[in-house]
Amino acid sequence: MLLLLLLLFKELLCPRASTVAPQVLGPHHPGAKEPYSFHMLQISSFANHSWAHIQASGWLGELQTHRWNSVLGTIRFLRPWSQGSFSKEELKNLQMLLQLYFHGFPRKVQAFASQFQFEYPFELQISFSCRMYAGKASESFLNGAYQGSDFLSFQGNYWKPSPGAGSQAQNVCKVLNHYRVIKEIVQHLLSDTCPRFLAGLLEAGKSELERQVKPEAWVSKGPSPGPGRLLLVCHVTGFHPKPVWVMWTQGEQEQPGTQQGDILPNADGTWYLRVTLDVAAREAAGLACRVKHSSLGGHDIIIHWGGYSILPILICFTVTLTLVILVVADSWFKKQSSNWNICSPHVPALPFPQKPTPKTLGVRNHGSKTDS
Ligand SMILES: *[C@@H]1O[C@H](CO)[C@@H](O)[C@H](O)[C@H]1NC(C)=O
Repeated sequence: MLLLLLLLFKELLCPRASTVAPQVLGPHHPGAKEPYSFHMLQISSFANHSWAHIQASGWLGELQTHRWNSVLGTIRFLRPWSQGSFSKEELKNLQMLLQLYFHGFPRKVQAFASQFQFEYPFELQISFSCRMYAGKASESFLNGAYQGSDFLSFQGNYWKPSPGAGSQAQNVCKVLNHYRVIKEIVQHLLSDTCPRFLAGLLEAGKSELERQVKPEAWVSKGPSPGPGRLLLVCHVTGFHPKPVWVMWTQGEQEQPGTQQGDILPNADGTWYLRVTLDVAAREAAGLACRVKHSSLGGHDIIIHWGGYSILPILICFTVTLTLVILVVADSWFKKQSSNWNICSPHVPALPFPQKPTPKTLGVRNHGSKTDS
């Protein structure tokens, strides 16, 4: 297996006929504004000496770009630009390297489990990442965790136990440090492959990464925090990029009690944020939710707190409508009775188009007759 790794490593080092990704990025590049990073995350669960499961994914910052299909042994590209600027051949080599790795990793871990004092069931997490500053300088990291706690990292050209991981991690690192070829491969992937792949991704995905999408905002009432108090909730959704500023304000004044939730991802790659304020019910009037975002070009969204819910509005509306009907009906009756001058209990409450005539008087007489 080591020989195979070595061969692949050579291929990766000297890719034939591959157009190399741009090494230096222009000033317009998103990488120039904020450090972008690429992560390969691997979560491996070991139930017993014969059962292991691996999940692996690739992320550009907080956007998932890749997923490892462990059944087919292939890289799934989740965005149209997830191949970055790597050639087909380079991607094929990378995929073969990952196939070997994901095939060999659980077997090696299980073979070494007792020597490493890993106790079933256990979980190993590996984060492999690189970050790019100002389009040029880059940093790379490889960190490993055992049972959810920092365990080791790769620094320079060595495996180092994490502080606090104890003699167990020291022992694992001592063993790993004997595998010179693996260290060389890791070193190369960290210092060369990862930054080149990241640069290509940033270039290829630029229009999606830099897109500006305006937020939508609305306010609602949350569960009451207590008697006489209101929880005002401001929802802001559908914005991109992630940085956003949302505050409950009174005029220009920010309300210090504003509580901001986590910025959560929507399925379409935009973001959602919920910002709440716990206030005395009588102080809610005049409050507003204010949203600042790069897509709004300085025109903040301001949503005023109405302070009323739909039920009182409905009641108000119904009462008003009833009053209006009563007033109209009353004036109509008055008008009719002055024109008509009849006040029989049997007069139907329907508008009569014709003026009363002697004939209708006769009807009235007839009516009186039947009554008696
Ligand atoms: C190992 O764990 C798997 C998953 O929990 C289980 O289905 C299997 O029976 C276990 N095998 C042994 C030998 O304990």
